[in-house]
Formats: sequence, structure tokens, C-alpha cells
Amino acid sequence: MRRVVVAEVKREAEAVICVGLVDPHGRELPDWTPGSHIELVSGEWRRYYSLCGTRDDRNRLSIAILREPEGRGGSVHFHDTVKPGDVLHIAGPKNHFHLDETTTRYTLIAGGIGITPIIAMADRLKALGKPYVLHYCGAGRRTMAFLERVERDHSAALTLHAGDEGCRLNLPSALSSLAEGEQVYACGPERLLEALGSLAEKWPEGTLHVEHFTARSNILDPENEHAFEVVLADSDLTLQVGNHQTLLEALTSAGVDVPSDCCEGLCGTCEVAVTDGNIDHRDLVLSRTERDANDRMMACCSRAAGKRLTLAL
Ligand code: FES
Repeated sequence: MRRVVVAEVKREAEAVICVGLVDPHGRELPDWTPGSHIELVSGEWRRYYSLCGTRDDRNRLSIAILREPEGRGGSVHFHDTVKPGDVLHIAGPKNHFHLDETTTRYTLIAGGIGITPIIAMADRLKALGKPYVLHYCGAGRRTMAFLERVERDHSAALTLHAGDEGCRLNLPSALSSLAEGEQVYACGPERLLEALGSLAEKWPEGTLHVEHFTARSNILDPENEHAFEVVLADSDLTLQVGNHQTLLEALTSAGVDVPSDCCEGLCGTCEVAVTDGNIDHRDLVLSRTERDANDRMMACCSRAAGKRLTLAL
């Protein structure tokens, strides 16, 4: 954990604030890459936010926070309490949404507050001189963060889709003619990412890269789970994973150290190798082919499809 001071809190759009964080002693902060996030910590509140400032300014990390009254409370807490001079803590930066800089052409799609990692990617692609198009969707201009910056810096690549102006994004037509090797990076609401996921089924694997705000299907509901047995082949150990616990929890309780980070199936840190048994994959990390291979799983959320799994642990 690193101590940081809130240098600025700025209204960025309706219900969106941009928070600038600096080192308490004026030192440089860690470098980061487009798609990176930090974990912002205030008392018991911990939330992940994508970095969206300019990488040239090594003294400041910037994040944007959408106030979500229907959410789990973190965004409302930060909106209502964070002010300049506050001391907060951060973990990271970490990047689970890497921009592959080697490809020749890019389509970037941002829905609402999903602009935060996407704007950093657009900045980078522009600096690299790579061809890209940027679709930015929102309910209306008043709700769309960084609109002025996006229009100023990326006007040649930008198509704005403001819902209240009647110009919604038509995904099939926007993505009807992907060039060979073109990659698509998207961040936004789950319905946008699901629609993209359906389209991507026809694309070459590895074309679509998405950042989910939250995991969808990994909430543990003991009434609908079954317990299973896990054999740790390398340790000569057999564990029971109850219907009320995750595989990661069972491993940790048994003293088996598996690194983890998001605990929501988003980051890939807790991957373990599987040598026997069928996996019920619930993460958002593995590709179709990787899932079908049935040889690795995310311990924080995925489970056994049957009664038993053997892990190379
Ligand atoms: S800890 Fe992030 S996927 Fe499991």
C-alpha cells in the first residue's frame, strides 16, 4: 500500500469526478501503461479504478469515479467524502487490460465511464502513430466524461454516440469490416460487452479485448453450489471444497499459497493447473480455446463441474 494525497477533485461530467493523487513528499509515482488500474483505499472501502491521466506527468495519478447510487456504496463514499488534502492509500498500478502495441490497426469502444482506460489507450496509439478509430457511447454529452479532451485530442478518430441525440452505436455495422489483424478494445456496461462477445464469436481468437467493471457470474450462492474434492498431486494432499467456499479459500485454509488479486475472476492471478476432472469455468480471463483445453482454472471463482479435480499443486 502506498500513501497518496488528494491534490484535486474536479467535476468531469454529470455524476463523474476526476481525482488527482500525488505523493505526500512530492516524489514521482510509479509508471503505468494504458489499461492499468489502481485500488483506491479509504478506511474499509476498496475499489478499483482505471488510470486516465497523462503518463508524461509522473507526479500524478488520475482516476475518474462515477457515482452509482445503486452500487455497493464505494463510489458514493468516495464522491461524498474525498476532498483535496485527504490522505488515502493505493495499491498498484496493475494492468489486466494490456494494449498490444504490435498490431497494425485498432478499434476502441468506450461505453460511459468505460472511457477511462480507453482514453489512455487512444493517447498511446496516437503517440505511436498507429491507425485507430474510437467509438464513445453515452446517455448524453452531459454524462460523458473527458468529452472535451477526447474531442480535442482524438477528433480524427472519434465517432460520438450520444443516446439523447439519437445516435446510438450500431455494433454490427461499426465492426462489419475489421481489417486483418485488427484488434478491438472495449470497456463499458455489461450489455455492451456481451453484444461484442457475441459478434466476436465469428472473429479470429484474440481480436477482442475487454475490461469488465465487475464479474458477472462468480457470486457464490451456496444453495446452488455443490461441494467437491480436490487432489493436490504434487503435495499428496486431498481437500474438500464446501458449497459455501471457493477453491481459493479452501486452498488458503489448508496453508496452500496461491497468489490472488481481484478475487472476482477478472485478473488471472490465481490461475492453477488442472490435470484431471472437468472444470466449471466462471472467470472472465480465459479464452474459448483455453477453457476448452480444460487444463487450468481461476481458483477464486471457478469450480469443479463434477465431484473431483486434480491440480498440479
Ligand atoms: S484473483 Fe483475479 S482471477 Fe482470481
